[in-house]
Formats: sequence, C-alpha cells, structure tokens
Amino acid sequence: MARILITSGPTRQYLDPVRYLTNSSSGKMGSALADAALNLGHQVVVVTGPVDLTYPSEAEVRQVLTTDEMLATCQREFPACDGLIGAAAPCDYMPTSVSSQKISKTGESLKLELWETPDVVATLGSTKRADQWTVGFALETEDPHFRAITKLERKSCDLIVLNGPEAMTSDRNSIELLDPQGRALLSCEGAKIKIAKQIMDVVERQLIEKAKCSTNA
Ligand code: C5P
Repeated sequence: MARILITSGPTRQYLDPVRYLTNSSSGKMGSALADAALNLGHQVVVVTGPVDLTYPSEAEVRQVLTTDEMLATCQREFPACDGLIGAAAPCDYMPTSVSSQKISKTGESLKLELWETPDVVATLGSTKRADQWTVGFALETEDPHFRAITKLERKSCDLIVLNGPEAMTSDRNSIELLDPQGRALLSCEGAKIKIAKQIMDVVERQLIEKAKCSTNA
C-alpha cells in the first residue's frame, strides 16, 4: 500500500477582496485519480483548490485557495507520502500587490503587474527522496510531445500525462502517459474515471511496485 498525494483543481490569486485570477479546472481528473488509487488499496491525500465536486469520502482532503497555500500544504504532506500526482492547474501568476479594499473604477485603464507563482510539482520534484516518485500533467496546444518531455525533465517527474485543453472542464479526456525517454506507456481516450484507472495501473506497475522492490532489496 502506498500513500499518494494528489493535487487537484484550480487555485485563485486575489487582486482585491472580491476579484481574482483563476482558470476553469474542474478537479474531475484529480477526483477520478483519487478514486482509482483508493480502489487499488492506497491511501490518498488530496490538496485541492475551490471546486464544485465532492472527493471520495475515504480520501483525506485539504482545501487551499492560492498556489502558495497549495505548495505549503503539499510540502507538509509530501514527506509522509510515497508519491505525488500533480493533476491541479495552479494559477501561474499572482498580482504583485493585493488591495485590501475593493478596487474602485476610475474611468481609466487598470494595469496589472504579475509575478510567477511557485511551481508545486517542480518544487516537490527537486527535493524528492530516492524512494519517492512524482507524476505531472502537461496541457499542450502545440508541439505536445516535445513540450511535455521538456516539462517532465524541468519538473523532475518520473512520468507525465499529456492532454489537451478540452480536458479542463469535461467528463472525458484524451491522454498519453509518457516516460522520460518519450515513450508512450499508455494512450487512451474516454471518461476520466476510466482513464484514471488506466493511469493508476501504469503508476502501480512502473512506480509503486518498483519503489517497493528497491526498498526491499
Ligand atoms: O507548466 P504547466 O502549468 O503546464 O505544468 C503542468 C504541471 O505542473 C501539472 O502537473 C501542474 O499540476 C503542475 N503545476 C504546479 N504548479 C504550478 C503550475 C503547474 O504544480 N504553479
């Protein structure tokens, strides 16, 4: 049995008390992966941004709002976990300043200055122990294989799931699961629930069982 950390859903970066930057991630892929991992007998911790769904009741769920909070929560949880699946779509940018009061309209244009937020998967990947593994997601619209493999390397992932923008809100997805050599270990499309089972079967064989063997060796 492994303990698996799954990031899921979007994060928010506030401009003022009522306005924020975000994206349309639904959390459905993260939830489907949590379900598939639990069905294989694993423990699951889900770190999620605000979503409109209920995660499986057996999963330990940690709610966060911002990308910084998602990173801090994952950094607390990861040492006790065997692996990470980064299915979230954390907001990549945050305003350089957050107004404590609602920003009033002035009739003028409003310029936003943004900083990049930290990358959760890359940060955990760069500090993972030899017995830990990480799986990232890559949502690409051009040159998908090259970009996904570049991302896998940059974020120190053991595997990466390549999907397209149609994945964001849909119940369905079309994915390839790539290894560091660029080989597709899995290529499938269909309901996220079904795809999540297939991804978890490969994660089980390629990462969880291998980690178990090297610990016992
Ligand atoms: O760079 P990009 O956002 O396409 O990378 C996607 C992968 O990186 C996903 O696994 C996502 O969960 C993760 N990510 C992250 N923190 C960010 C941005 C992306 O963990 N700030």
